[in-house]
Formats: sequence, C-alpha cells, structure tokens
Amino acid sequence: MSAKTKQQTTRKPRGPAAPRAADRVVIFDTTLRDGEQSPGASMNLEEKIKIATLLEEMGIDVIEAGFPIASNGDFEAVREVAKIVKNSSVCGLSRAVRMDIDRAWEALRHAKRPRIHTVIATSPLHMKYKLQMTPEQVLESVIDSVSHARNLCDDVEWSCEDGSRTEPDFLCRTVEAAIKAGARTVNIPDTVGYALPEEFSALIRMLFERVPNIDKAVVSVHCHNDLGLAVAKSLAAVGAGARQVECTVNGLGERAGNASMEEIVMALRTRHDSMPYKTGVKTEYITRASRLVSTITGFVVQPNKAIVGANAFAHESGIHQDGVLKHAGTYEIMTPESVGLTRSTLVMGKHSGRHAFKMKLKELGFELGDNALSDAFRRFKDLADRKKEIFDEDIVALVDDEVVRAHDRVKFVSLQVIAGSKGPQTAELELDIDGERHKTTTSGNGPVDATFNAIKAMVPHTARLQLYQVHAVTEGTDAQAEVTVRLEENGKSVNGQGADPDTLVASARAYLHALNKLFTKRAKTAPTALSA
Ligand code: KIV
Ligand code: ZN
Repeated sequence: MSAKTKQQTTRKPRGPAAPRAADRVVIFDTTLRDGEQSPGASMNLEEKIKIATLLEEMGIDVIEAGFPIASNGDFEAVREVAKIVKNSSVCGLSRAVRMDIDRAWEALRHAKRPRIHTVIATSPLHMKYKLQMTPEQVLESVIDSVSHARNLCDDVEWSCEDGSRTEPDFLCRTVEAAIKAGARTVNIPDTVGYALPEEFSALIRMLFERVPNIDKAVVSVHCHNDLGLAVAKSLAAVGAGARQVECTVNGLGERAGNASMEEIVMALRTRHDSMPYKTGVKTEYITRASRLVSTITGFVVQPNKAIVGANAFAHESGIHQDGVLKHAGTYEIMTPESVGLTRSTLVMGKHSGRHAFKMKLKELGFELGDNALSDAFRRFKDLADRKKEIFDEDIVALVDDEVVRAHDRVKFVSLQVIAGSKGPQTAELELDIDGERHKTTTSGNGPVDATFNAIKAMVPHTARLQLYQVHAVTEGTDAQAEVTVRLEENGKSVNGQGADPDTLVASARAYLHALNKLFTKRAKTAPTALSA
C-alpha cells in the first residue's frame, strides 16, 4: 500500500462543507493573513480570535488565519483559530515546500474544516528572478506540493502567485496539474493589481475553455487594489465563472490592499438583478466587522469609503436630504440597516443605568462579559459626566477601547498635563505595569511629547514613533478624540488606538496600546520567497 493510500484510509473524513449551488460564491476572508501583511496591521492572538469569531458568526465560508511557517505567533494563531471555529473552513498558507505544508497542517489538524493553501509563483518574472526556477521545475513543484498537501488534508487550495501576469499556456498547464494532483480550489491571484477587469475576466474564461478538468475544482480569484480595481476585477471574474472570491475586511492587505469584503458582498446583494449570485454572508454584521478590524489594527476607515465609511449613508445637500425623506430610494441604493447601521432606539445620557447601557450595547452588536461590562459602564458614566450628548459612536469608541486593551501589561491610570504657551509643558503620568503602580513627571516639546516621554521614562524601549494621528469620533468641541499611534522597532511596526474626550489621555492610551502590542509580538521570520 502506498503512503498516500494508507494515510487516506486512516484519515477522518473531514473537509469542506457539502457541494454548493452553481450560483453560490464562496467568500474567503484573508484579513488575518494578507490583511495582517499591511505594515502596522499586526494583531495579537486574542485580537485574531476575536476577528475570526465574528467572521464565523457573519457566515464567512473560509477564514485564512495566517501563514504558520512565518513565525511561532502565526502558527499559534492558526492553531487556536482552527480549534475554535466550527462553521467556517479555517485555512493556513504555505509555500510549495513540504516543510511549510507540514507546518500548516500541524496548525490546522484540529480544525473541523481544515484547508491547506499552497502557493507558488508562475509568472516569467517571478520564476526567473525570485524563485530562480525553470517552468518545468515549477510544474514539478506544483504537483509535489499539492499531492503532499492532499495526503494530509482533503481540502487543498492551490494558488499561482502573479497569476494574471503568467503566460496563458503555462497557466493552463499548471492549473490542470494542480487539479489533477488534488486541488479542490484553484486560486488565480492578481498579485500586483495589474490586470484590468476585462482582461481578468477573459483570463478566467480562458481557463474554463482550455483546462480539461476545470469542472473538478472551484475557481477562485484574489485581487490586489494597486489601481483601485480589485473589487471590479473580482466581480468580473465571478461573471466569468469564478465561484470563490478572496477578500479582506475594509480592503486591508499588502500595499494598496485586497478586494474589500464588504464591497464584494454588498455589490452581489444590491445588484443581484445583473449578477445573480449568492453569498452566505449576513450583511448586517458588516459594520461591526469593519469597526472591529479598524479598532484592532488602528487603520482608520476613510469617511467616503464605500459601504463602511462614516459618510457612506450620510446626506449633506438639502436636495438629497429632501429626497431621502420623501423616499429613501431616491439617494440610497441599499439601506443602512442592511449593513448593520441601526437607527438608534435608545438615547443614552448621564442618568442611564447599567441595564439600559447593556441594552444599548446589544443594539450596537456588543456582548460583554461581566467584568468588561462593569469597566465599560464605569467609563460610560465618566464620559456622560463630561459630555452633554452621548452618541452611538461614542459608545462604540469607548467599548472598542476597552476590548483592545483587555490583556495589556502596561495600563493607563491617570495623566495630569501642564500645557500652553508659557512652557515648559509637563506630564505627570501614572501607569500600572504588571500590576504595580508607577508614577513620573517629565517635560517635552509640547504636551504630547511630554506625555510620550513619561511613558518612555517608565517603560524604556527603542521603538520609534512613525505615525501620530487624531480624529474626532463625533462633532463638537466636547467630542471624543480617537488617536492612532504607530511604533516601529527592528523593522516591525504596530498600530495602537485610544479614545477619550481628552486628546492627551487618548494619545497616552494609543501609545500604550501600540507598546503592549510590541511586547507580545513575536519575531517574524517572513519567508523571502513570497511577496504578497
Ligand atoms: O497576492 C497573492 O498572490 C497572495 C497569494 C499568497 C495568494 O496573497
Ligand atoms: Zn495577496
């Protein structure tokens, strides 16, 4: 008996869900893998689990949880997500190398629906300069890697990196070989975002016409947004027969990012008349997912971003407002409710009690444990004492802020700042470091500098401040400030966020959030042969 036959007979029959209807588009979310490859977007284990849990709840079919060979942190994240998630397939990326594939399987083996994703570049440029392999060597590697992965796992996806710039004949040969070796999904990436929508759909159509066994696999696409065309190309590819789209929440990802999940899903839902395809995504979760990913990564969503931008459903001009009041359809092609933007039913203020607060959190899509609820309620009361009107956005900012710092080793306690034109500006800062209180007073070139100097004095580190950004959560001078801080150390960068009506307190919280992330971040040994 061959090793393959032996392993196949002893393996538990797990794998992808039942075959899907012809009009069903599989949504493959790679926020935790490609999304995390955005500089500064790294997430810790708890954060990845939080996102994966929400993605599962919202009906994402496949969650790519990481690249297990890249670091112990990635391995652990894929393994823990694989243990927790039951309804979505959990996927781990590997290069076309047996060691990578074994490591991916090691992380995935406890998943209810594991998927190994193996990738190799197929374009002339990548094969010659990056891989330094001939096309025949690459073809051999495709067969070996997919067969090896199939010996371990029923559900194997194969990707041809830089697929859109691959010679058509060679692309057809590799796709056919991958399917023959056992790939159930063949993914065609537009790795550098170069293709135009018509070119990309023609490429997918060509595969259906020329690859004899194409009906044995799901054709997937993975588009990057370098020319702002990732969503358009993905949808064009679906029209040409692709039935899996790879995407990320808020379009996070390498360089200009990946196709945005919320845009793909809402385009398919809203324009079902001309794109008669379905997804399994509960679109009402979209706003929550967007906010969670934005809070965790510190990547603020631009106000005019489609679907999830703060202005996506706002009507400023009088003519538009008048039209919407008369009939929402005049200027709204989808309802705010369809993406989870609820019209508020509970108005909150300083007299609101714990029960009302809990109900409001539920309305906003949060369910907190008792301790987290108590902390959030305490901060809400504090905020209500200082701010006349409490908007939903205030509560979301406040709860997000609690959520992201639940496991911080260094916690903010208090801050007293002397600012103004007379100088010197000083900050008296109190921190809780591993359960012990510390206090110091430092000066700086302005109150933000003084505050950050106080943190550096109590928690010495070599990280460099790369980005400091403030934005107001709502309107008005008493609005909460949401601050993003990006720190860089030894080539790794992390983002942190903080919210508070006091911009300096928000700044201290954001800096500490980033610093805590740096402490937990493991050294990544990013494989050099994979660029996207
Ligand atoms: O962009 C790309 O080619 C990728 C592959 C790993 C699928 O991310
Ligand atoms: Zn990619």
